[in-house]
Amino acid sequence: MKIIAFANQKGGQAKSLISTQFAFCLAELAEKRVAFIDADEQSSSTYTLRAFEAGNRAYQFFGGEPVKVNGGDSPITLFSADKDHLRLVEKMDDQIKMDANRKVILPEMATNLRARLDEISDRFDWCVIDTPGSNSKVPNATLIAADYVVVPCTIDAYALPVANEMLTRIRAVQQHLNPKLKLIGLLPVRFKANDREMVKHLKELLTFQKDTVLRAKIGDRSAFPYAADHGIPVWKVDRSAAREAAKELREVFDVIGSKVGGF
Ligand SMILES: Nc1ncnc2c1ncn2[C@@H]1O[C@H](COP(=O)(O)OP(=O)(O)O)[C@@H](O)[C@H]1O
Ligand SMILES: [Mg+2]
Repeated sequence: MKIIAFANQKGGQAKSLISTQFAFCLAELAEKRVAFIDADEQSSSTYTLRAFEAGNRAYQFFGGEPVKVNGGDSPITLFSADKDHLRLVEKMDDQIKMDANRKVILPEMATNLRARLDEISDRFDWCVIDTPGSNSKVPNATLIAADYVVVPCTIDAYALPVANEMLTRIRAVQQHLNPKLKLIGLLPVRFKANDREMVKHLKELLTFQKDTVLRAKIGDRSAFPYAADHGIPVWKVDRSAAREAAKELREVFDVIGSKVGGF
């Protein structure tokens, strides 16, 4: 099982929207067995994937007991966000320590997450994790446990510096805590091709972060929130305007596929 996280410490960056659409792509286009962990107490992804609710909870991955998987026969197995429990997870100890030989000792919540993911790894091909838009314990533990991370990001003056901080954090995790973590890249979302400022920002970004920015992007299109609200993949939205959206999603899926060596 490969583990891919969608992370950005800023809210409103389409993490939930893209991670759920990505899960639909894996399940329906690539016919993979998908586990989806909604680790954000705001539970947007749980809402979109509500058809797959089977009583599995995301917080259990941070605990000391193996996760019992209910259902598991549907294309996507949802581990839904449970606000009260996820808040308790945020209160767990996340201190990183060193032993006498200066070897890093990971916090229990991260080793628990790794162990729990390992235990379900035979049942699924891919695990998609949606994370909260904060620099907090749950997203940090997720980065320690994941194989891949995508950073969705809007292309504006507020969001770009935060995305940069996120990239710095990812690099620090790669260096010290999880060398297997691969940065897939920064994914421009809600892009407006007719917004001159946005176009200018993207040009700059492509100059300074050439290798980090994915060669595909998601436009600002009403078909995306419509699909998220109706709990369906965007290619099933019955509007002509959804066609471009579906094409963009497919391109993003293919670009990520090429970065992970195929699904
Ligand atoms: N491509 C898009 N086009 C239009 N609206 C979008 C698009 N992507 C996301 N949105 C909207 O932007 C808001 C933030 O998206 P969301 O996935 O909740 O972000 P995050 O999970 O990073 O906080 C939501 O209202 C969502 O419906
Ligand atoms: Mg979200």
